[in-house]
Amino acid sequence: MDTLVFVIISICIFFGWYYNKYRERMAIVAKLPGPYRWPFVGNAALFIWKSPPEMINIITEIHRQFPRITCLMLGPQPEILISDPKLAEVVLGSQKLIDKSDEYSFISDWLATGLLTATGKKWFQRRKVITPAFHFKILDQFVEIFDKQSAVFVENLAKSKGQPLDVFQPITLCALDIICETAMGVQIQAQINSDSVYVQAVKEISGLLSKRIFTFYLRNDFIFNLTPLKRRQDKLLKILHGFTDEVIVSRRAELMNDKKQDSSSNHDQDDIGVKKKMAFLDILLQSTIEGKPLTNMDIREEVDTFMFEGHDTTSSGIAFCLYNLAKYPDVQKKAYEEVRHVIGDDLDTPVTIKLLNDLNYLEMVIKETLRLYPSVPMYGRKMQENIDMNGFIIPKGSNIGISPYFMARDPTLWENPFEFIPERFESDNQYHPYLNVPFSAGPRNCIGQKFAMLEMKSTISKVLRNFELSVAPGYEPILVAELILRPDNGVMLILNKRK
Ligand code: HEM
Repeated sequence: MDTLVFVIISICIFFGWYYNKYRERMAIVAKLPGPYRWPFVGNAALFIWKSPPEMINIITEIHRQFPRITCLMLGPQPEILISDPKLAEVVLGSQKLIDKSDEYSFISDWLATGLLTATGKKWFQRRKVITPAFHFKILDQFVEIFDKQSAVFVENLAKSKGQPLDVFQPITLCALDIICETAMGVQIQAQINSDSVYVQAVKEISGLLSKRIFTFYLRNDFIFNLTPLKRRQDKLLKILHGFTDEVIVSRRAELMNDKKQDSSSNHDQDDIGVKKKMAFLDILLQSTIEGKPLTNMDIREEVDTFMFEGHDTTSSGIAFCLYNLAKYPDVQKKAYEEVRHVIGDDLDTPVTIKLLNDLNYLEMVIKETLRLYPSVPMYGRKMQENIDMNGFIIPKGSNIGISPYFMARDPTLWENPFEFIPERFESDNQYHPYLNVPFSAGPRNCIGQKFAMLEMKSTISKVLRNFELSVAPGYEPILVAELILRPDNGVMLILNKRK
């Protein structure tokens, strides 16, 4: 009897506490569109035990019923999905609403608080220091790396000899080679030795982090720490952080050494007088914030951020672009003719930044690909206070997810949204500036977008110069929207060598 009274009193105290704590939030949330929210659990039950492809279907259905803005509750936590350009503008255009949503804290185990996850003064200072690393002159010297790695990539593709091939894996390895050499100045040769421990760790960690974010119960630290995944994550992070630390220490030592050398020698040139390339890491090593150089830990978080943001995103973009070129032969023909016209027929002609910039039609094809298949299907912000979003009041503590994926598929926002029409982008000005935002927009937009566009143009144009593409019989991509949008079943293409 005593136990029963104790249980009833405890439940009453819990309800009282819960009601008091979330009363205001619940009253605000009640006015937001969205599916029925059960007391206490909200909509959490919808997502438990669901596979990633099932999740995208569930959210697509909710979005169909409640387009533009939907509020889901994961327990007491509001998760607000936005797919309306005017609402997106309120958030993305703001200098104040720059805090990232709770999901990013899981990525921070790897990236700490680098540019992607940082906020406030730290983010502002880092953005200022890192912006020059994406200057035209720096990107110009990276094009040679893009070209060199794209050549290895097409050599690997040629091994398929006209048989169906999943191109996703070779694309990822090529993107990894490119980002390692440009971010750290290190050639890991992932395309030649895909068994490298570091390469395997980079590939595995993204999957593990996604699994944690999208598996409801694994979001809880206590539960996660009890699982074998936590031990695996610790092991992977040791490899990843250890590798970056080693590279930073050795580059710093090289730089000091260079400085000590006779002032008459040219630090920017190697032993045989060839101009040395500056990796992002070198730029960070030479940067200062408030007069102080960045520490190894400061640099590690930024280099790791480049590694994370700079390879899965471009892999997804290249893969879906090759798929679309294969699926739409007329688009492929037009893109190929442009590549021949701009670069010429000689397969050995190296590309330059000028040539890549002249590939205007290919750029439209990439833009249309990223519209329908945005590499980052959703990005998030955390509201630190109640905000009025064009008449919708969003309560403090909400996570907001802005979805370029759903914006691109809304027939009230685009004419024939599911049709692949690169010509939509002949003039960018005809659309709302926050309608097509695969690279986000506003102060926290993607700092690497020019880099990404050049890399994608370099690899895709190289493939077009070498092969005619078609889709393998029966293949249709099954989309999975985790941190990155990817095809769950790879990208099966047939590549026939051009005569
Ligand atoms: C197709 C390729 C890419 C796409 C679609 C893409 C997309 C995005 C998006 C949507 C964001 C905003 C994320 C958010 O608000 O949470 C972002 C941020 C960022 N991206 Fe990219 N990205 C791509 C390639 C790259 C590359 C190649 C790099 C680096 C070499 C890079 C570095 C970054 C960084 C550092 C941020 C954080 C910027 C900040 O918060 O100030 N991205 N990217």
